[in-house]
Amino acid sequence: MSSEEHVYQATISAMLAHHAPHCATFLDALRSVPGLYPTEVVKVLESLAARQLIDAATFLRLRPTSFAGGAPGAHRNDTSLPIPHPLDYDWRFEDDTARELLQRCVRATQAGDTVVFLGTPSLFREAASSSQDGRAFYLLERSEETVSALRSMEHVHAGRVMRCDLARDDLPLLEAKVVVADPPWYASDTRLFLWAAARLSRPGAEILLAQPSIGTRPGVLAEREAIQRWARECGLEPHGITTGNLGYTSPPFERSALVAGGLEGVPDGWRRGDLVEFRRTRQDTLSPNRPEITRQEAGAWAEVTHHGTRIRFKYDAEDSRTAPADPRLLPLVEGDVLRTVSLRDPVRAKASVWTSGNRIFFCRSPLLLKVITEAITRSADVEATVIARFGPDVCRSGLANIRTAEGQVRELLALESRTLLSGGRAG
Ligand SMILES: C[S@@+](CC[C@H](N)C(=O)[O-])C[C@H]1O[C@@H](n2cnc3c(N)ncnc32)[C@H](O)[C@@H]1O
Repeated sequence: MSSEEHVYQATISAMLAHHAPHCATFLDALRSVPGLYPTEVVKVLESLAARQLIDAATFLRLRPTSFAGGAPGAHRNDTSLPIPHPLDYDWRFEDDTARELLQRCVRATQAGDTVVFLGTPSLFREAASSSQDGRAFYLLERSEETVSALRSMEHVHAGRVMRCDLARDDLPLLEAKVVVADPPWYASDTRLFLWAAARLSRPGAEILLAQPSIGTRPGVLAEREAIQRWARECGLEPHGITTGNLGYTSPPFERSALVAGGLEGVPDGWRRGDLVEFRRTRQDTLSPNRPEITRQEAGAWAEVTHHGTRIRFKYDAEDSRTAPADPRLLPLVEGDVLRTVSLRDPVRAKASVWTSGNRIFFCRSPLLLKVITEAITRSADVEATVIARFGPDVCRSGLANIRTAEGQVRELLALESRTLLSGGRAG
């Protein structure tokens, strides 16, 4: 265990030992260490009880099975945005949080001012459905599916929903008075979003950045110091932090991961984030170059959607030129559901098929499997579709594998939609 990990374990244990006796439910225990993952809370409580650092009554009261209040939380009937996909690191704000952030933006601006949202589609949706009093709200967002869903909504100024990958696309020329950014919670994404926020704002602007709370993982405070140094290089001066005030709903992929890890019934809304505030200080052009993002699961992913379920396939241009081989889904983890949502899990690099329910697989011909999946979703004949796309040889030599893959995809789609309806359980 690294020394950072030691410090983290000691800190979360001390915090839980302190708060647990005053907590009535598992949700209270979860909230007492903002951001701490539910399976970690269970582990720490077990360890504290085993060492008699909390009493047996407290331990029994705080078991997740004794959670009192509400359903485990199937995906809310929210059809205006696509179901979050784990590869987008898409954790959506609770409604109250979106409303509060919007009010802050309104208080800090006047009619005629520009507000830019970076990777915050639910905040943009909140702004679009409220009275805008002359402010111009823009969203810059990488996900094509999210962008097209928002553009088709009533009251949305489609031109202000901009499909933009901050890591590589040109930024629009905007001079925002307020920028709100919620990057994937990793240092390189945060640096990228701050770099963009500086370029898209004018001197004196307020920049609001969502960040993981202290319990989220080891090293959050050290990361934050490094982020603040980077912000200064970009011309952004940190001036405030509010801890644990951002509420997030638990996306279906996270619920699946929790259920696969043995935790059913985790109440929604346990995930909290911190709001870090910066002021844009200068106009100059000395800001550093655009930072790069590297990931284990990097690569080009293409998506097929079916009744809300989203399946992504990873392949590169080379795959489209070579003859496809075997399209069957091959298991990577027991039960197929990835039990964590953490970037630190090395199995992520091996996945070439990934669902919105956090199921991952390896596949030798993801492109062929995508074509099979598309045929299924269009109720087209799979064999004829494959021949039309790749020629007859593929079916001559590999028809049995194609039929197996077709069956696997049909089963997968059924499983995913059952998981979605039941809040993480596939049964
Ligand atoms: C952590 S989520 C934040 C969602 C926000 N809490 C909300 O409710 O609207 C991150 C968002 O940033 C988007 N995103 C991730 N990387 C991006 C990039 N390089 N450029 C633009 N958007 C990106 C994702 O698609 C996702 O919508």
